[in-house]
Amino acid sequence: MSLSTVNIYPIFDQSIGQTWERFAEITWSCMRQSYPGTSYDKHEINMDIDLMKDSWNTQVGNFAFGAYNANNEIIGFTNGYVDGATASIERLYVLPQYQRKNIGTRLLRAAEHAATISAKRVELIPLSKSHDFYSEHSGYARMENGFYGRNIQPAKCETLPVFHANDKNVRNIASFIEKHPSRGTPKYTKKDIRTIIQLHVPVFIWVDISSQINGVAIQNPAKKAPKDTEIYSQYTFLFCNKLLESAIRNAR
Ligand SMILES: CC(C)(COP(=O)(O)OP(=O)(O)OC[C@H]1O[C@@H](n2cnc3c(N)ncnc32)[C@H](O)[C@@H]1OP(=O)(O)O)[C@@H](O)C(=O)NCCC(=O)NCCS
Repeated sequence: MSLSTVNIYPIFDQSIGQTWERFAEITWSCMRQSYPGTSYDKHEINMDIDLMKDSWNTQVGNFAFGAYNANNEIIGFTNGYVDGATASIERLYVLPQYQRKNIGTRLLRAAEHAATISAKRVELIPLSKSHDFYSEHSGYARMENGFYGRNIQPAKCETLPVFHANDKNVRNIASFIEKHPSRGTPKYTKKDIRTIIQLHVPVFIWVDISSQINGVAIQNPAKKAPKDTEIYSQYTFLFCNKLLESAIRNAR
């Protein structure tokens, strides 16, 4: 299996398809492999799904990323949430047969990267057998309270998924859209932007070297993407400044 056959995508809506069930199955496979004595059965899986559903519905600033194989099946995932300046990773699991192929690292980096638009730090409580993965390999330090943490830098020159409808994100996106109206696209107010993010409609921003927004893409809710991995191109309203416009034109 080559690395290019596994792609990391943001999951804006964990309630679509069998996402929660898949998360729980992957968790189960990993637990059986790492902790063979663990009695983790169907009942525990269902409890885990209920927990995930509960936090998805009640927690603000949720994020999730999936690692998809060539058949578009999720073979690893991470999920968590941003709370003020700190993002928390709740889960990070890669199916045993896909481990040690850099997929866990890519999932962790994707989550950290997306969190940088709101947070300055990522914290988590690792499972005992993954301590080295975090401390030796991923730059996390053990804190006094037993959590592991790492400071993160704002993204530069990158496309970022926006999961979190906090005031700063909403204000910046709305003000960009107001200044860069695009023909045939709706006029979004601050309230609309907040609702769109809260409804988990895919939203992406392009940020430059000084972390300024250069473009915003919002999935057109009227055109339902057939797969959540195909959201990037034809299903979006695009707002961009001249710089990004010419970069996109040149890339075509
Ligand atoms: C921990 C986990 C997510 C890592 O994902 P992964 O895709 O296997 O990790 P990567 O391939 O990105 O690892 C990169 C490096 O991290 C280190 N590493 C990864 N897993 C490790 C482990 N279990 N123990 C020690 N070091 C580890 C290694 O240095 C590895 O590089 P190498 O393969 O060249 O030696 C995955 O092993 C897993 O799902 N484990 C079971 C569940 C778990 O413990 N999850 C963490 C819960 S918080």
